[in-house]
Amino acid sequence: MMSEQKTYLASAPKAGNEGVYHLRLKQGDVPSYVLLPGAPERTMVIAENWEQVQELAQYREYKTVTGSYKGMPLAATSTGIGCPGAEICIHELNVVGVHTCIRVGTTGCIVPDFDLGDLIIPVACIRKDGTSIAYVEPEFPAFANTRVVMALMQACERLNYRYGLGLSYTVGSFYIGQGRPLQEGGGGYWPSFAEKIISDLQSARVTNIEMDTAGQYVVGYLHGMRMGAILSVIANRVLDRWGDNGGEERACRAACEAMKILAEWDQSAGGAIH
Ligand code: URA
Repeated sequence: MMSEQKTYLASAPKAGNEGVYHLRLKQGDVPSYVLLPGAPERTMVIAENWEQVQELAQYREYKTVTGSYKGMPLAATSTGIGCPGAEICIHELNVVGVHTCIRVGTTGCIVPDFDLGDLIIPVACIRKDGTSIAYVEPEFPAFANTRVVMALMQACERLNYRYGLGLSYTVGSFYIGQGRPLQEGGGGYWPSFAEKIISDLQSARVTNIEMDTAGQYVVGYLHGMRMGAILSVIANRVLDRWGDNGGEERACRAACEAMKILAEWDQSAGGAIH
């Protein structure tokens, strides 16, 4: 006798305030345009560009702040480090009505075109994030929304910031997966792929390495959202240098300006267009 296939549905857990479980937000708490820093503290660096700043919610790595940039309502929600946490964040933002997100993060550059403090706008990513594979086959591309990329470029031009477009390698590891030995000067576990990872990526003309963007692009796209990112170079893996050089603040400002530009384009088109 053939047994009938059962479909198991899962109702989403709710937070104590009846909001989405991890972000603790309800529909209408945040505007539809949200910036996504990794670090909770970076929400406040972003908010330095805003008026009427309000800290709305904080649970685990997720901190949400709202405010107004040049009259435009904006929010920032931190995603933590890596893609599993970002998946939760993007899904729950979508549930409460968000349609456009810009990741504001950091990265290591591997080509001479970039140095510490420069800004990289990834147009596409290699999907070694470890999370997007749970959503869709590996051949599915991780790519930014073109309008979001155009708005970020225009923002950087207006603000006179050094920036470039990038092809990002997103990997679910900071150490071995990015070619960093477990012990300073070598020693311990050191597979051959770790030795070769930087030069192999350089030869494929990849610009930078980080841990979040591919997963965010894929998960956001599959939710019907517009996604983009602006990353400040905090590590130069060619010259083995580390430092912010003002890049974090510039990335925060450029992301706010890009959201304002997008909102103006949307307004004249009569809605958020892909
Ligand atoms: N973030 C990363 O994942 N790697 C770096 O080198 C710098 C920032």
